[in-house]
Amino acid sequence: MSTLTTPAVARSRADLAGLLASRPGGRSAPVVLVPTMGALHEGHATLMRVARERAGAAGTVVVSVFVNPLQFGPGEDLDRYPRTFEADLELAGVEGVDVVFAPVVAEMYPDGVPHEGVPTEAVTVQPGPLGDILEGASRPGHFRGVLTVVAKLFGLVRPDVAIFGEKDYQQLALIRRMTADLCLGIDIVGAPTDREPDGLARSSRNRYLDADQRQQAVALSRALRAAQERAAYGVPAARWAAMGVLKAEPGVELDYLALRTTGLEELPDYPEPGTEGRILVAARVGTTRLIDNLPIQF
Ligand code: PAF
Repeated sequence: MSTLTTPAVARSRADLAGLLASRPGGRSAPVVLVPTMGALHEGHATLMRVARERAGAAGTVVVSVFVNPLQFGPGEDLDRYPRTFEADLELAGVEGVDVVFAPVVAEMYPDGVPHEGVPTEAVTVQPGPLGDILEGASRPGHFRGVLTVVAKLFGLVRPDVAIFGEKDYQQLALIRRMTADLCLGIDIVGAPTDREPDGLARSSRNRYLDADQRQQAVALSRALRAAQERAAYGVPAARWAAMGVLKAEPGVELDYLALRTTGLEELPDYPEPGTEGRILVAARVGTTRLIDNLPIQF
C-alpha cells in the first residue's frame, strides 16, 4: 500500500475493517498505527516516517485522527482544539500513510462519552498510580481518557506496532504499561521529540501562541537544558538551574517541574553518578498549557 499518494480515508469502523481486510500486503505484512488528534505538524511527520519504516513496503501504515473528548477535562480546550483535516490528509499522503482513520465521536463512543463523575455502565481503562502523578495530578481523568481511546484504537486497527511521541513522556510510559499489563502484544515504539530550531517542542497547541508568547514558550526547553548542564551536581542544583530560567520569564506560569527516574519514580537528591533520569515541565503561557521533557544524566 506504500505506493499510494493519497491515503484511503475511513470514517467509520466498518470502513476501516473493509480497508484493512483488503490490504494489498496481505495479512502477514505488518500494520503500524500512529494515533493522533490531528492538527498534524512536523513532529507527527517524524512519527509517520518511523511508522513507514517499520511497516516496510508491504506493510500498512494507519494514522488515526480523532480529538478524543474523554481525555479533556471541564474547561480545557476540547472545543477550540485545532481541526485541520484537509492539511492532515495532505501531510499523511506526503509521508506515505496508507489509511487515515478519522471517525466521528459516535463511532468511538456509541453509548455516549462516559465523562468523569457521570454514572455510566461503560468499561474504561483505569491507569493505576502512574496516572495520578504529574499530568494526571493536574488533569484528573486525562489518562483514563487516553488509555481508553488507545485501547479502542488498538482493538479496531489490531496493529503489530504503534508509534507515540516522547513529547508526551508520561502518556508513552502508561501506554507501554497498559500494553504489557493487559497482554496486548503490540510493539510500542517511542519517537524522539521534534523541535523548532530554537528548541521549542513541536505541538499542535503551539498554534494558540501569539508572537510574544511564542518567544516566552522557549523558556521551557531552555530550562530543561539548563538542568541537564547542572545534573552532575545533583537534583537540587539541576532543579535550581531550571527554575532560574523559568522565573526569569514572567510570561510563563509554572505548573510543575519534576526530576524523576526514567520510570517516573522519585529520585534521591544525589543519584549515583551516571544514573539516567527524566526532567519534565508543564507550564501555562497565556492560556495555553505546554509540556516538555528531556533525558537527564546525573
Ligand atoms: O497524543 C495524542 O495525540 C493523544 O493523547 C492520543 C494518543 C492520540 C490519544 O487520543
